[in-house]
Amino acid sequence: MNHTTLIVYQSKTGFTERYAQQIARGTGARLLPLAKASPAALAGCDTVLFGSRAHAGRLDGWAKGKRLLAAASAKGARCAVFATGATPAAERATVEQFWAQSLTAEEQAALPHFYLQSGLCYEKMSLLDRLMMKSLAVMLRGKQDKTPEEAAMQRMIAGSFDNSGEEYALPVIEWIRAGE
Ligand SMILES: Cc1cc2nc3c(=O)[nH]c(=O)nc-3n(C[C@H](O)[C@H](O)[C@H](O)COP(=O)(O)O)c2cc1C
Repeated sequence: MNHTTLIVYQSKTGFTERYAQQIARGTGARLLPLAKASPAALAGCDTVLFGSRAHAGRLDGWAKGKRLLAAASAKGARCAVFATGATPAAERATVEQFWAQSLTAEEQAALPHFYLQSGLCYEKMSLLDRLMMKSLAVMLRGKQDKTPEEAAMQRMIAGSFDNSGEEYALPVIEWIRAGE
């Protein structure tokens, strides 16, 4: 029997979409933008992934994503989540904090969740996102006695960068293949 894997994703500046495409190439998964996704569109899938960006410390689009995964999992699908973010994957504590703010303890226990480091793309960012980054930059610039993390963040958000890499998606690809 053919194994059907679906990746429901949301991407504003392209990082999550590129990772979703790479995972799809590696596994034969189908891709579906979150905006077009409904529980009916997930019917019959054996494996469903939700992928989106970290946004101000939380997984963007998760309110809808969690409903979709709950519906898929109720029908017996294996489900997982991946997030992309500008934070380097090596900053484990920040990444853990992001997951703790995004998923409940039950969700963290039930759902494999993968963090894929990406970057920032000011050129493709919405005006609102640019304003949010600007106010973060202004806040950090004005802050006396910055912690090393805050100083690093200030340097990190100064311009566009791309720290994504194919290797970061490999654990997701392996997880999908392990269930086939
Ligand atoms: C307003 C804003 C807030 C962000 N907050 C975070 C964050 O809390 N943690 C993080 O690691 N990255 C953060 N990022 C970076 C994005 O998560 C990163 O660029 C992501 O890969 C974008 O995905 P996309 O290109 O698929 O939209 C933020 C970006 C913007 C514009």
